[in-house]
Amino acid sequence: MVKLTYNLGGGLPDPSIFPKKISDIHFEPEISFQELDKELLKILNYRGINAKNEELLLTTGSIQGIYIFSYSFIDPGDKIAIEYPTFAGAIKVFKARNPDLVKLPVIPYYNIEVKEKIKAMYVIPTGQNPTGINMKLEDKKRLLELAEEKDFIILEDDAYGLLTPEQPTLKSMDKNGRVVYITTLSKVFSSGIRLGIMVADKEINETFRKVKENIDGGNSTLSLSLLFESLKDGSFWEGLTRAKRIYNEKKSIMCEALNRYLPQAEWNYPEGGLFYFIKIKGINSEQLLTKVKDKVIFSPGSKFFFDGYGKEYLRLSFSYSSPEEIEKGIEIISKEIQ
Ligand SMILES: Cc1ncc(COP(=O)(O)O)c(C=O)c1O
Repeated sequence: MVKLTYNLGGGLPDPSIFPKKISDIHFEPEISFQELDKELLKILNYRGINAKNEELLLTTGSIQGIYIFSYSFIDPGDKIAIEYPTFAGAIKVFKARNPDLVKLPVIPYYNIEVKEKIKAMYVIPTGQNPTGINMKLEDKKRLLELAEEKDFIILEDDAYGLLTPEQPTLKSMDKNGRVVYITTLSKVFSSGIRLGIMVADKEINETFRKVKENIDGGNSTLSLSLLFESLKDGSFWEGLTRAKRIYNEKKSIMCEALNRYLPQAEWNYPEGGLFYFIKIKGINSEQLLTKVKDKVIFSPGSKFFFDGYGKEYLRLSFSYSSPEEIEKGIEIISKEIQ
């Protein structure tokens, strides 16, 4: 088998943005959880959120936060609105609860309407995965009004928000405790560290904490120590600044490569996030992946639509691969479909 060279598949961060090599970081067996909480509140502040300690929960990756939310709020048959398309990992978690999934259309842009009686809604309003759309401020306001009017709870997944801090979070605008917030450190610090930060009103958070205790009995102290150290010495924030610069450069490089090699593709320049979600009429991206996967990988579009639609779409990630790899990868895809 030919060695896989170009990985345009997952949303893996560029290893060079990491603040330090893991081995360089001094492991502190004793960390001050009070101090760690203070540092976490600063991260949330960066996203405009003024949380209290009792509203905070550190999860093992943000996917665990989505699981905790689903386990706590969703019963079989409940109507849950999710973006169409949305993060494939979340679709799997929700489906495991057997809900009745309702579409919130995102392409070409959000259609903020809630016609059915829903119990909850899952949204990625900043750098939406896979489309890269940012929800406009007036639509965020409208969504919060709808949640109040129609009495549903919102799970805001802010996985890419730290990269575009100028975009306000729903949570920062939430006056009535309608929003449960989750973000991840996977995109800006390390995905292997498996840490996510969840914020919910005190009562809800108490339920979440119990659910988490039953799942894993708490986070890895090694992970917590690494994060703590990096927040204290500032390398977390330096890494974030680096990440924004590097991702912006690579986003432009992928844009040029798409224009050069795949002029027939339809896409919008991603306002946030780490992906291009492109449509090529007449193709089947699952079959295409089978043909090229020893040389280049990408995510076929159907993974992001809960009903299997989306075969003409490809999600291409610009976060992990080098500029040369991005260009070569797209060239290979273009040759295969000609
Ligand atoms: C929108 C979204 N939420 C959550 C995650 C998962 O993050 P974590 O690694 O913290 O579980 C991802 C990862 O791709 C994502 O795109």
